[in-house]
Amino acid sequence: MHEEVELTKTLVVVAHPGLSNSRVNATWFKAITGLPGVTVIDLYSRYPDGKIDIAEEQRLIEAHDRIVLQFPMQWYNCTALLKQWIDDVFADGWAYGGGRAVAGKTLSIAVSTFSKASDYQKGGRYGRTLEELTSPFEVLAFRVDMRYLPGFFLSGLERLTDVQLIENAERYRQYIGNTPGY
Ligand SMILES: Cc1cc2nc3c(=O)[nH]c(=O)nc-3n(C[C@H](O)[C@H](O)[C@H](O)COP(=O)(O)O)c2cc1C
Repeated sequence: MHEEVELTKTLVVVAHPGLSNSRVNATWFKAITGLPGVTVIDLYSRYPDGKIDIAEEQRLIEAHDRIVLQFPMQWYNCTALLKQWIDDVFADGWAYGGGRAVAGKTLSIAVSTFSKASDYQKGGRYGRTLEELTSPFEVLAFRVDMRYLPGFFLSGLERLTDVQLIENAERYRQYIGNTPGY
């Protein structure tokens, strides 16, 4: 008898305010579109007026095992609509306060930064690592009983060649797909 291995269902929430003018996030988006078990949503085109359909987003999350939040870093933070999405969707009675809708699922982030990797180090230009700057996502996961997995970061876009970007997007495809090693 042959055993079916259950495919992890992954939801990637892409939150870039101008995906049509994007280099990195648009390339990442293309690289992961169509992967088996992977749903990719473009938050800014889904909600151009900023009014999030909370019930719809909660249904989407419930139907997936793993949630990945993809965004360009803006002022050492995520983009505004993603913050609003979290505030609205991870609601009292659903995610916490008696609700356990996301408990046991996994959460991670995928972030592009213009500044180079060495800027995001102790003693570097910003004196903070990307893990430190993005720690609210880790604490969010902890608070709602999700498992937080290491993020996928790409920094130093000024010097990033097209070939390097293509290689990076292939690694991202493996990160999002169920490739062993990630
Ligand atoms: C409003 C704004 C704020 C930004 N803040 C940061 C920042 O804090 N750190 C950083 O490294 N890059 C920052 N950037 C650069 C973006 O992170 C960078 O353009 C983006 O990651 C490139 O991805 P894309 O090619 O998908 O647009 C900022 C860009 C904008 C428009």
